[in-house]
Amino acid sequence: MKDRTTIPTREAAGTASVSPAGSNARKVFVKTYGCQMNVYDSQRMTDSLAEQGYVATETPEEADLVLLNTCHIREKASEKLYSALGRLRKLKDERAADGREMLIGVAGCVAQAEGEEIIRRAPSVDLVIGPQTYHRLPEALTRVGRGEKVVETEYAIEDKFEHLPAPKKERVRSRGVSAFLTVQEGCDKFCTFCVVPYTRGSEISRPVSQIVAEAEKLAAGGVRELTLLGQNVNAWHGEGEDGREWGLGELLFRLAEIPGIARLRYTTSHPRDMDDALIAAHRDLDMLMPYLHLPVQAGSDRILKAMNRRHTAADYLRLVERIRAARPDIALSGDFIVGFPGETAEDFEATMRLVREVDYAQAYSFKYSPRPGTPGADLLDHVDEAVKDERLQRLQALLTGQQQAFQAGMIGRTMDVLLEKPGRLPGQMVGRSPWLLPVIVGENPGEIGDIIDVRIIATGTNSLVAEAVAAESASMALDSINA
Ligand code: SAH
Ligand code: SF4
Ligand code: F3S
Repeated sequence: MKDRTTIPTREAAGTASVSPAGSNARKVFVKTYGCQMNVYDSQRMTDSLAEQGYVATETPEEADLVLLNTCHIREKASEKLYSALGRLRKLKDERAADGREMLIGVAGCVAQAEGEEIIRRAPSVDLVIGPQTYHRLPEALTRVGRGEKVVETEYAIEDKFEHLPAPKKERVRSRGVSAFLTVQEGCDKFCTFCVVPYTRGSEISRPVSQIVAEAEKLAAGGVRELTLLGQNVNAWHGEGEDGREWGLGELLFRLAEIPGIARLRYTTSHPRDMDDALIAAHRDLDMLMPYLHLPVQAGSDRILKAMNRRHTAADYLRLVERIRAARPDIALSGDFIVGFPGETAEDFEATMRLVREVDYAQAYSFKYSPRPGTPGADLLDHVDEAVKDERLQRLQALLTGQQQAFQAGMIGRTMDVLLEKPGRLPGQMVGRSPWLLPVIVGENPGEIGDIIDVRIIATGTNSLVAEAVAAESASMALDSINA
């Protein structure tokens, strides 16, 4: 259980790549921090830059443009920007001494939160661009090219999905069989600890037509698994193709119709937005994978109230019960904050009790980090750092134990795995189980993009090891169950 930023279905990719153009093309290095939304945005920015003739590179040393896509969620996350900028300034100076230019751009949530303050603190930065204004990136770079320092953080709400060009087929191909697709952005929940409502703005849902068009493009490029993204993805709503108001449940059913798409996921959800139609989708839509990230943050009603989560621990437990009734094999994942201001030993024990009751397959836990501009930062009764450490350790020990038990429970089971990439050893492939865990399969089990039946034979720390099961024997096994 690492202390790391979520929305947690994937490691944040360090770099995004595009196919090479001419050898003297300008090079861009994109570094991504934070959640999957940033991973998605980095890909879109890389696509947009490719249209401008930029080629992606894996190292800042050879880049003409370095773009840092930042995260503001906790203090540690924000600090990473300034330490990276310190290193880049040296690089920029060395380059300048050689008579070559290197531009530095800061995107993402720190860009939105701090704006021109970033350039004041780090004058080597040429461009600051917030997540709501990425469609203005080409124009902003033209201005930077003329020697201007550019700060782009102002936007009108209707700009939000103005966005960047949809990916081209070849680019999709180079990215693999599992893709993110942003359907919702922003947050109106205003949990008192959280900067997201300030950095990503108010909740907005992308229209069905745009989402379907992008999903079709991804499918045509070979994508088999879609993960719908949103800060509050289950708050997504919009006018459906039948003229009725749709929620995420209806949208999932629609996306399931797209040829080539075999698996659907979504993240991150707020407990208050899990409506009946979405729970029913978990029951009725096989393509919706049995895994749900449903953060609760704390188990004490007093703390939940102070956090403005707008539900109680009992509400959450009842919801979990309903979801499990709909999809008994669903694996749950969560986020937790320990040491929110005013959290007593008793409050913390309530979190431990809730965790024991739910029994998570996976979870992220963090020490509370006061964030500038949030109501939580103004609270006075801050918890001692040593107490936070001790609580975090206890919580993580409990969660790690649950994760290990969940993984151990997979041994001997047969499941379908989507093959995503070659493994480390010859003949090995790495795929993904319905429960999100990576699965290593030996002996040339198939092609990337295939969904094959495997039997789990062992578990690693964060992965499973499996052997392929011949199709006939798998269906025979099924027959014998059904008989
Ligand atoms: N939209 C998502 C969460 C986005 S932030 C949701 O509502 O679930 C991801 C996680 O970071 C949060 O769930 C929370 O556990 C953690 N987090 C957010 N702000 C934090 C803070 N100030 N200190 C510590 N952890 C925080
Ligand atoms: Fe932050 Fe709460 Fe919104 Fe999630 S629901 S993004 S934790 S304010
Ligand atoms: Fe971080 Fe912004 Fe995502 S603050 S978690 S990058 S929405």
